Amino acid sequence: MTTTPTTDSAPAPRSGTGGAVLEASGVTMRFGGLTAVRDVDLTVRAGEIVGLIGPNGAGKTTFFNCLTGLYIPTEGTVRYKGTVLPHRSHLVTQAGIARTFQNIRLFANMTVLENVLVGRHTRTHEGLLSALVRGPGFRRAERDSEQRAMELLDFTGLAAKRDHLARNLPYGEQRKLEIARALASEPGLLLLDEPTAGMTAIETTATRELVLAIREQGTAVLVIEHDMRFIFNLCDRVAVLVQGQKLIEGTPETVQNDDRVIAAYLGTPFDGEPGEAEAAEVRAAEQTGTAGTDTTQGKAD
Ligand SMILES: Nc1ncnc2c1ncn2[C@@H]1O[C@H](COP(=O)(O)OP(=O)(O)OP(=O)(O)O)[C@@H](O)[C@H]1O
Ligand SMILES: [Mg+2]
Repeated sequence: MTTTPTTDSAPAPRSGTGGAVLEASGVTMRFGGLTAVRDVDLTVRAGEIVGLIGPNGAGKTTFFNCLTGLYIPTEGTVRYKGTVLPHRSHLVTQAGIARTFQNIRLFANMTVLENVLVGRHTRTHEGLLSALVRGPGFRRAERDSEQRAMELLDFTGLAAKRDHLARNLPYGEQRKLEIARALASEPGLLLLDEPTAGMTAIETTATRELVLAIREQGTAVLVIEHDMRFIFNLCDRVAVLVQGQKLIEGTPETVQNDDRVIAAYLGTPFDGEPGEAEAAEVRAAEQTGTAGTDTTQGKAD
């Protein structure tokens, strides 16, 4: 059903030679006594797909909010293609950074096509007067916008749903529509906040293909996800946030084998003392025939 463009299974080679699209340096965000993001540096280069992972509450979304002008960071600067960004979301979008939200934010009672058209408005230059008079310039701009919006719906596999109300789309398609709307602003950098949350395995695979296709079209991507398989199969580089701080950054291979990352997610490594002690306790209970039906043992995956 989907017309999502596919690519060969392996990600395209990373174009590490690209210039910096995003340069966040020393970004700190405090809310009263809580430091949600602490002194974080992160660079995304042209052609890259970078992952941002970390446990719940690590500060990932807050960091995105600092990058996109939703929050004014307490400290630090954010540059897009070398220029310091203003602290206003619409100006950040206009500069070239688009995003999706962890909690989907669509216009529920607008159609799929209309939602994408709203995303285009930062790239249309027809003024209010022209729109009111609906002069030839306005009509041409409207036609062009609609054509581009339809291309994006094709690209994301939603063309057949163009006239459906956004609220009637299944969850996975709402997430795709958010991506289509973000792409409508013609970003040089796309920020995705948990794009596969709530998706089926098939939808997640399609989203991976979509992100690869977005990169191939020249948009760099910074993606937050809890799905490690998705992140490690997709990204050129992964940064890990823990309690607001960047713990480590590197290739998927480096990051997934780092003991500190494993500890941050699982609390204690598998072969630690407590695990052994618990296992011995269960064995002893089994021998005396008092074991319950608890089958949680050994499920730490
Ligand atoms: N506007 C705010 N005011 C006060 N505290 C906030 C605000 N936004 C976020 N926080 C706090 O900052 C910390 C980081 O939250 P954030 O939502 O950035 O985490 P996250 O890494 O995105 O987590 P998740 O994976 O659950 O989405 C949390 O302790 C959160 O409660
Ligand atoms: Mg979040």
